[in-house]
Amino acid sequence: MKKIAVIGSGTMGNGIAHTFAQNGFDVALIDIKTDVLQRALQTITTNLDKQIKKGTIDEQLKTDTLTRIKTYTDLANGVKDADLVVEAATENRDTKLNLFKQLSDICKPYTILASNTSSISITEIASTTKNPGNVIGMHFMNPVPLMKLVEVIKGKQTTDKVTEVIMKLSRQLDKIPVEVNDAPGFVANRILMPMINEAIYTLHEGVSGVEEIDTVMKLGMAHPMGPLQLADFIGLDVCLAIINVLLLGFNSDKYAPCPLLVNMVAAQNLGVKTGSGFYKYTPESKDLIVADRFKKAKN
Ligand SMILES: NC(=O)c1ccc[n+]([C@@H]2O[C@H](COP(=O)([O-])OP(=O)(O)OC[C@H]3O[C@@H](n4cnc5c(N)ncnc54)[C@H](O)[C@@H]3O)[C@@H](O)[C@H]2O)c1
Repeated sequence: MKKIAVIGSGTMGNGIAHTFAQNGFDVALIDIKTDVLQRALQTITTNLDKQIKKGTIDEQLKTDTLTRIKTYTDLANGVKDADLVVEAATENRDTKLNLFKQLSDICKPYTILASNTSSISITEIASTTKNPGNVIGMHFMNPVPLMKLVEVIKGKQTTDKVTEVIMKLSRQLDKIPVEVNDAPGFVANRILMPMINEAIYTLHEGVSGVEEIDTVMKLGMAHPMGPLQLADFIGLDVCLAIINVLLLGFNSDKYAPCPLLVNMVAAQNLGVKTGSGFYKYTPESKDLIVADRFKKAKN
């Protein structure tokens, strides 16, 4: 493994590219939008500077990491010669099925095709390719450079050899891989998303306020971050896409998305990435400030 292509340079793609490049791999970072690629490089630079400040890397490693990342808007150019492709495009079934069909035509037969999907069936994604044994889930956590877990998802046809390679590669990135089988939401989001959705229902029904709900879960359950802040961090559009996959996959109303979540996504209040969700975010603000529409009227 030498050359890695990362498709999608949003919240996850930039972190995945950063992590591979910092660990010595050449990375082709691909997106359909040039401005998103530019923003991704800025985010990676800012995050590397934070690591220097913390003393976890030095200036030389920052320079080497940035030098190893090349950006592309053309898929075929970007994935050419890649040993591994990690797809981190928008959480949309059709987008992913189309991408993997194209990748199967463009890439070398030995290239491992991994998806960072949070919930969509790896087996179904693999079914669009000529070599489904080479398709696997490599589910990184946000923020990728900091979070230790990689959920490695074996599709029905993923070979043991490919699984072994990805488990080993994850360890090379200083991560801890956990192997799981293919089912809607896998393990992480099957458990996390119903909790986030329930927290949104709790707010929607007026049981309590944004800060109160998050405080109960932080102090009462020792969660490092409350579920509403975490939803902002993940992106409310991503949360809605995942809960809809659970709803469809398990055919149970228990996964019906809260109307407040649906409305916030429609209004593009997606959390950190749009500057507003349950909390509001500005580049300068260090404190967590509840979004105006959720502030309680004072008596
Ligand atoms: N946000 C999270 O916390 C999180 C955590 C783990 C996994 N994931 C998963 O990672 C994937 C990406 O999520 P994200 O939060 O980074 O989304 P995002 O919306 O921040 O970024 C997605 C990027 O994909 C690009 N894109 C869309 N179609 C494309 C195509 N055909 N070719 C190239 N680029 C394309 C978009 O332009 C966008 O920049 C999703 O599958 C999501 O479920 C997200």
